[in-house]
Amino acid sequence: MKAKPTASNLHPHTGKIPLREREQRHGHRGCVVWLTGLSASGKSTIATELERELFRRGCQPFILDGDSVRQGLCSDLDFSERDRHENIRRVGEVARLFSDAGFICISAFISPHRADRDLVRNLMPVGTFIEVFVNAPLSVCEQRDPKGLYAKARKNKIKNFTGISSPYEPPLKPEIELPTNRLTVMQAVEKILKLLEKKCRIKSVPGKPAGKVPGAIRWSDW
Ligand code: ADX
Repeated sequence: MKAKPTASNLHPHTGKIPLREREQRHGHRGCVVWLTGLSASGKSTIATELERELFRRGCQPFILDGDSVRQGLCSDLDFSERDRHENIRRVGEVARLFSDAGFICISAFISPHRADRDLVRNLMPVGTFIEVFVNAPLSVCEQRDPKGLYAKARKNKIKNFTGISSPYEPPLKPEIELPTNRLTVMQAVEKILKLLEKKCRIKSVPGKPAGKVPGAIRWSDW
């Protein structure tokens, strides 16, 4: 293994644009909305609609999603405990960079371990890490099974599958909990928007979000 460079030999460069000025330009604070929950709990659907609505309001949102990131930045990682930890560590650092740039970074990862999520929380300035527990019972997620992964995991065709053969540790004090088996997509999104209005000073703007039209947005691939 390569030796780690010692911190004393590193000299990070600081730019000339203070975060305050970036945030003034964007019209809101930079932050991380961290969606955690079982596969098929609804993280990606919420992330997509939240991003759409934030963009409509003139904000600067960006999504980091497990299924995508694992095809690039984290394509060398599997689902062992050790690699999941590394997955969340890397993504947490990226999320922090987006937040430093004044973005609202929406992160959708199972992130099954409390310690890993807390590690990301502790990277962030106080109040800028918003943990959202996307909470649907395992039985419901398994019934949805949009990618057929639970069925494969039950047949032992996938190893270390979260909820079946690998643990999930629910957050103890999330900023928001969303029981997606009892909410519409837009009800879930609106709960997050309400908190972002307070914590990140996003503004509400007139006009109808797509999801306000009854039945317009459905839970799709969860
Ligand atoms: S995490 O546990 O490391 O946070 P991450 O969110 O990046 O997971 O990736 C989860 C996605 O990978 C799931 O939505 C699912 O499509 C896919 N996947 C493939 N194998 C597994 C597995 N063993 N456990 C959970 N998800 C898996």
